[in-house]
Amino acid sequence: MQLIESIPAMKEVSHRLQSAGSLGFVPTMGYLHEGHLSLVDTSVKENPHTVASIFVNPAQFGKNEDLSTYPRDLERDLKHLQARGVDYVFYPQASDIYPEDYGTWVDVDKLGDLHCGKSRPGHFRGVTTIVLKLVNIIMPGFMYMGAKDFQQLVILQKMLQDLNLDTQIVPCPIVREDDGLAMSSRNTYLDKDERKRALCLSQALAHSQQLFKDGVRDSRQLIKAAAEIINKAGGQIDYIECVHPQSLLPVEVAEADTRMLMAVYIGRTRLIDNAPMA
Ligand code: PAF
Repeated sequence: MQLIESIPAMKEVSHRLQSAGSLGFVPTMGYLHEGHLSLVDTSVKENPHTVASIFVNPAQFGKNEDLSTYPRDLERDLKHLQARGVDYVFYPQASDIYPEDYGTWVDVDKLGDLHCGKSRPGHFRGVTTIVLKLVNIIMPGFMYMGAKDFQQLVILQKMLQDLNLDTQIVPCPIVREDDGLAMSSRNTYLDKDERKRALCLSQALAHSQQLFKDGVRDSRQLIKAAAEIINKAGGQIDYIECVHPQSLLPVEVAEADTRMLMAVYIGRTRLIDNAPMA
């Protein structure tokens, strides 16, 4: 496995790998967990070569967010990536990605202003911009992304389609801890009591799915039932919505592919999770 820090060096390798068949790419912000590594496993299985990137992207953090405290451990990440068969790790400097005179940003209309976009203004502009830059540098055939960041997944699919890029996103299932908590680098912020209470997100989703199975179709009723579970656990709800899986617009009547999306504060930690109704 080779660590590549410079953009020109990464581009050179990417050009070479193009001719060697399909190239798989796993973009990350590091501090890898089994969720990330499951994306790596799928890419390694499906492509002759896999590139993973590690870049804590300052452009997707708001002023009062956790950029400076975001967990980092390059050495551990590299060990994991090597063990799982990654060929190249792209680890650029922020000053190379966003030089002082940097001035081009990518915005996906409408989708980026909903849900997480409301409480994190500018977040998705930061995500789409960095992912487009990474795709331009690495030129992968396939990009592996987890469904935990469901809104991000939909926005990035729209960006790739709107901008006629050849990279295809391969959506991968959410990886959960044994007790149901969706894996996230931010779970490390939770203390023992918060870690227990954080289960309310997956429990609320499972309860809504059960209600749907029992015949409930009214989104308001499903959301109310989910909110009750979260309130009981002392979670602070940012939003809970039942949305169409492509437009991400709220629906009144839930169908099997309706996605319940939620963001909840457990203490000071903002967690997201989602699930289809069936
Ligand atoms: O999902 C993430 O970790 C990030 O948003 C991504 C896609 C690596 C862009 O920085």
